[in-house]
Amino acid sequence: MRTTLYYFTGTGNSLACARAVATGLGDTDLVPIASLRGQDRVRVPTERVGIVCPVYFYTLPVLVREFIPRLDLSGVEYAFLVATMGGFPGLAVEHGEELFGNAGGELHAGFTVRMFANYIAEYNVRGERSVHAMQRRMERRVKTIVASVHAGEGRMEKGGPFDRLLSRAVFRLLGQKFLQDARTRDRRFTVDPSCVHCGTCAYVCPVENVVLVDGTPQWLSHCEQCFACIHFCPVAAIQVQGKRTRMRGRYQHPDVRADDIAGQKAAPFKQQ
Ligand SMILES: Cc1cc2nc3c(=O)[nH]c(=O)nc-3n(C[C@H](O)[C@H](O)[C@H](O)COP(=O)(O)O)c2cc1C
Ligand code: SF4
Ligand code: SF4
Repeated sequence: MRTTLYYFTGTGNSLACARAVATGLGDTDLVPIASLRGQDRVRVPTERVGIVCPVYFYTLPVLVREFIPRLDLSGVEYAFLVATMGGFPGLAVEHGEELFGNAGGELHAGFTVRMFANYIAEYNVRGERSVHAMQRRMERRVKTIVASVHAGEGRMEKGGPFDRLLSRAVFRLLGQKFLQDARTRDRRFTVDPSCVHCGTCAYVCPVENVVLVDGTPQWLSHCEQCFACIHFCPVAAIQVQGKRTRMRGRYQHPDVRADDIAGQKAAPFKQQ
């Protein structure tokens, strides 16, 4: 069965995961969701469809939440979701189910994969050694995911009843607010004088939300909060909420380049 795998990524975890799933499944087209932003309706050209993206605030990114209901799933027999995250998937799989329902279809399986947590507004990134542990963990998880998808299993990794209760409470507290103002949260981004005016931040942004004005980045308030501009700045000049992130590390998945993040803007093939 051929597969279309739609993905969104800020720091490369979801792309690395999508590539591994595509290799495992074989006969799979990888399509960046950001490249289809302008399309009202997206016909899925294969019988199997997958979404790979990060978890943001216990749910899916706004871009992905807006994308799934626009899918024409009429020719789809099996749909799955892979949510990469730092340890707290929250309601991501549950919301994926609802969104596929909104598209008039069904989500058959939802998986979560714990990878490097990149939300440096709240915590620091972990060290080099945990990157290798993350890689090994991802490889193991992808094997399970590929086997499940090949078998057409109905498997929903939503957590136990207590997890779900807690997730609902946290989502109500933080996630709903995030969904309301995600796009304008770039107001919290600032640039240090250490900026070398290289333009990488504008280059990598998957939704063209950064422009350089006299060599300095400005944000246009249609942000997805993917943090690519922050993590890919070569001198770590972009901060969130003032000084908070100045002493914190930056992270890029070791197998993913700035070109890959930027490349999400371009459509790999024309959808019929
Ligand atoms: C705005 C934002 C919110 C996040 N919220 C969560 C979260 O609720 N739970 C979690 O486990 N990880 C969270 N993370 C971490 C990412 O889900 C995780 O690092 C993911 O693998 C990043 O994927 P990417 O490299 O493809 O962008 C968040 C990251 C960002 C940037
Ligand atoms: S990536 Fe960093 S150094 Fe380059 S223009 Fe943007 S803020 Fe300045
Ligand atoms: S401005 Fe930065 S955080 Fe917002 S979508 Fe672009 S790269 Fe991601």
